[in-house]
Amino acid sequence: MRYLITGTAGFIGFHLAKRLLDDGHFVTGFDGMTPYYDIRLKERRHAILARSNGFKPVIGMLEDKASLEKAAEIGEPDIIVHLAAQAGVRYSLENPKAYVDSNLIGSWNILELAKTVGAKHLLLASTSSIYGASDKIPFAETDRADEPMTLYAATKKSAELMAHSYAHLYRIPTTAFRFFTVYGPWGRPDMALFRFVDSILNNRPIEIYGEGRMSRDFTYIDDLVEGIVRLIRVVPAEENRVEEIDTLSRHAPFRIVNVGGGQPMELMRFVETVEAAIGRPAIRTMLPMQQGDVPRTFAAPDLLTALTGFRPAISVEEGVKRFVEWYRAEMPPV
Ligand SMILES: NC(=O)c1ccc[n+]([C@@H]2O[C@H](COP(=O)([O-])OP(=O)(O)OC[C@H]3O[C@@H](n4cnc5c(N)ncnc54)[C@H](O)[C@@H]3O)[C@@H](O)[C@H]2O)c1
Repeated sequence: MRYLITGTAGFIGFHLAKRLLDDGHFVTGFDGMTPYYDIRLKERRHAILARSNGFKPVIGMLEDKASLEKAAEIGEPDIIVHLAAQAGVRYSLENPKAYVDSNLIGSWNILELAKTVGAKHLLLASTSSIYGASDKIPFAETDRADEPMTLYAATKKSAELMAHSYAHLYRIPTTAFRFFTVYGPWGRPDMALFRFVDSILNNRPIEIYGEGRMSRDFTYIDDLVEGIVRLIRVVPAEENRVEEIDTLSRHAPFRIVNVGGGQPMELMRFVETVEAAIGRPAIRTMLPMQQGDVPRTFAAPDLLTALTGFRPAISVEEGVKRFVEWYRAEMPPV
């Protein structure tokens, strides 16, 4: 199969592209190498992908329609997986424009592209953040999710809605996944695990928000990629409608699926897990919850399991251990 994946220099796009290349597929990787975090990490990820003959990188911005069209010309994709985005909850308070540009305009350009190339399946990344501060747990895809707490969440929810309209108007089969705190090797330096490990190994204090009582449903990257790869094969259609829990639209080949573990952990226990994996205690700075943070995330993985037979299984203890091993091997000491 021929894939166009956006965000291949990013954490999740890199892992998905690598898995598909290893499985013998062709991947055109589109990424703008944005400076949200250290570009050297993005370049290293692309350099690994470039070892595979099936990989063609295209450096360009989502907002630039012409470079997206160029990528489609080069790769002639059957399937588009749209992962590039301005990610991060807290940064959306500092630089809201980046979210509007990448996640609204950029995602609309992807929808136009999917229409032009006649994509057989379009898959796009959404987020657990769109459930806002909901206290109905676990979070099911059929829950109302229209009270976003940040512009990040609002742009992701908007992208889901725009995608539904294109799926209806142009019959583009579309799956939107909602990811839950993804972590693992080659992860993002702005996320908690990377920052905690980096600080503990370099004897710097770690910042713990909300007295450590917030909880997150952590999803290990290999579990996430397995879920995505299986969902690629489940093209939304009436034949695969699941009774009661499905989000398959009545008006379009469009579905929303949580990809998360259903095993939430409190932040303080997460810190202890990181300390145990490193073998050293952290210097802890306790801080209040930050603006835009939500108290919990907790995925109901039932729809994912009903559609694919898969349920994320890697424990946080095991996943954190693998991350620490990677960090020690690959990240130069400062
Ligand atoms: N990592 C998580 O825990 C998590 C959770 C929920 C949702 N998501 C979503 O998953 C997707 C991938 O996230 P990630 O963790 O790999 O993030 P990432 O920041 O590592 O990767 C995103 C990539 O997109 C690129 N990019 C950003 N804006 C662009 C633009 N306008 N044009 C071209 N390229 C652009 C960046 O250069 C980067 O390489 C995103 O859509 C994100 O919102 C991630």
